[in-house]
Amino acid sequence: MLRCDFLVIGSGVAGLTFAIKVARLLPHSNVVIVTKAGESESNTKYAQGGIAVVLDSYGDSFDRHIEDTLRAGDGLCDPDIVRMVVTEGPDRLNELIEWGTDFDEKSSGNFDLGREGGHTRRRILHHKDITGLEIERKLLSQAGTLPNITLSTHHFAIDLITQHHLGKEEGHTGAPVNCYGAYVLDSQTGKIETYVSKITLIATGGAGQVYQSTTNPLIATGDGIAMAYRAKARIEHMEFIQFHPTALYQHPQSSPSFLISEAVRGFGALLRTRSGELFMRNYDERGELASRDIVSRAIDSELKKSGDEYVYLDCRHLDLNAFRDHFPNIFNKCSELGIGLSGDMIPVVPAAHYLCGGIVTDRDGQTTIENLFSCGESARTGLHGGNRLASNSLLEAVVFAHRCYKKSCEMVEGITFPEGIPEWNEEGTTQPDELILITHNRKELQAMMSNYVGIIRSGERLDRAANRLKIMYEETEALYKRTKISPQLMELRNLISVAYLIVQQSLKRKHNVGVFFKV
Ligand code: FAD
Ligand code: SIN
Repeated sequence: MLRCDFLVIGSGVAGLTFAIKVARLLPHSNVVIVTKAGESESNTKYAQGGIAVVLDSYGDSFDRHIEDTLRAGDGLCDPDIVRMVVTEGPDRLNELIEWGTDFDEKSSGNFDLGREGGHTRRRILHHKDITGLEIERKLLSQAGTLPNITLSTHHFAIDLITQHHLGKEEGHTGAPVNCYGAYVLDSQTGKIETYVSKITLIATGGAGQVYQSTTNPLIATGDGIAMAYRAKARIEHMEFIQFHPTALYQHPQSSPSFLISEAVRGFGALLRTRSGELFMRNYDERGELASRDIVSRAIDSELKKSGDEYVYLDCRHLDLNAFRDHFPNIFNKCSELGIGLSGDMIPVVPAAHYLCGGIVTDRDGQTTIENLFSCGESARTGLHGGNRLASNSLLEAVVFAHRCYKKSCEMVEGITFPEGIPEWNEEGTTQPDELILITHNRKELQAMMSNYVGIIRSGERLDRAANRLKIMYEETEALYKRTKISPQLMELRNLISVAYLIVQQSLKRKHNVGVFFKV
């Protein structure tokens, strides 16, 4: 049994920012980060466009960013949270810069601000088209300087420890649920360890892997949300899955799909049908820079009309030297595939990209479970409402990591460890004979979600999805009860829970709003 003051699940921007802050303020505390893959593997690592922050000396204002965020969120944002996040952004940005993050500047020395869909101003700070990688590297290097942080890679959090494990009543009986840490599988030894912690932070990111076609890496399986759901935390807004309009179309399909940043449209690229027609102005006066929900639905509608599998992103009219300088990663990827941007257009298609909902938190990142916090993509803070504004996610992660840090440092002194926490019980389980069952079910789930719970939904398709999910759930639970825990099995179980929440919350929503569209 391992005891710590702070247990951080996840090493993306949210988890690392929190851990660094806590470890610095309380140098005698013991901060443990567990992360299920290599230290940098996360959605954060792949973020391209950048982070949206208002810099008033650049002719922008908090009010404009707030207005753009509220407009994208389509009436479902919490306006107080939006104001809080936008106004706290500059301080958090300065910290990232102090920790070494390099944001591109123009020759004048001013930041080179990008523009993305739904923003009425240029306000996206970026590092080329690999902003997330730059942030992730600098945060990891900061964390590495702090002796009271332990980062354990290939450690997979399985379940939260609550009083349920102590055999006590909880939750539905009116008593609050308390979190005492988590059970964690060391994937390399196969051993399940008990991490008892005063404060636990879920920073496990999103769940794009619930779909066949997604920009999210393999780790994005919604584990934290599923764990919190099993522990009876409140989970909301799961129906709001944001599809990014321009993932690279490849045949055969590769997973994850490579993203062509929205900043490329901010740079002037245009969307055309395969027959060469511009179409975005038929859908929204903002054209290519309408918010993501509108652009994705417009593409979906054009594809349904034409029967094509992709549309084109046309960069042929742009200054390609400047393009290569701004977007070297995208330029190189296209070149590798033989797409020469002066003569060829980029085939693109929408792909699942971002989960707007998640674990409900208050303005300090506290969930409905005592001593359990969440921030980053796993949390539903009220910022995004029905649709996240581009580049507001990295911003939300750093602002809420800071707020979680403040609140949890106030609380930690007063928390004592409970007695009698049991070790994980593996009795009666055996090694799985056929891992292929798990792999097949994951693929089946992803295909089912893409076919029935995509950009445009219907009651009938959602009902079908619910029926199929029930079968997958029963099969997987039976496997879970008799088989030793593996990351593959846990991910499948978690994906099924996330899919269930998406389908059930979609069935409950009666009106179309934000990214949610039902016919
Ligand atoms: P993540 O960065 O996903 O980190 C989650 C961590 O949790 C990982 O370390 C993972 O391994 C770990 N983990 C998960 N489950 C477990 C478990 N069971 N046990 C232990 N560890 C676990 N947003 C923007 O604002 N601007 C952008 O330009 C932008 N571009 C994007 C481009 C792409 C291709 C993608 C996929 C996303 C982009 N986003 C962007 C969204 C943004 O990157 C993410 O929302 C954000 O980085 C999430 O950070 P996070 O720390 O919450 O989660
Ligand atoms: C992108 O670069 O298009 C992604 C930005 C985001 O998801 O916020």
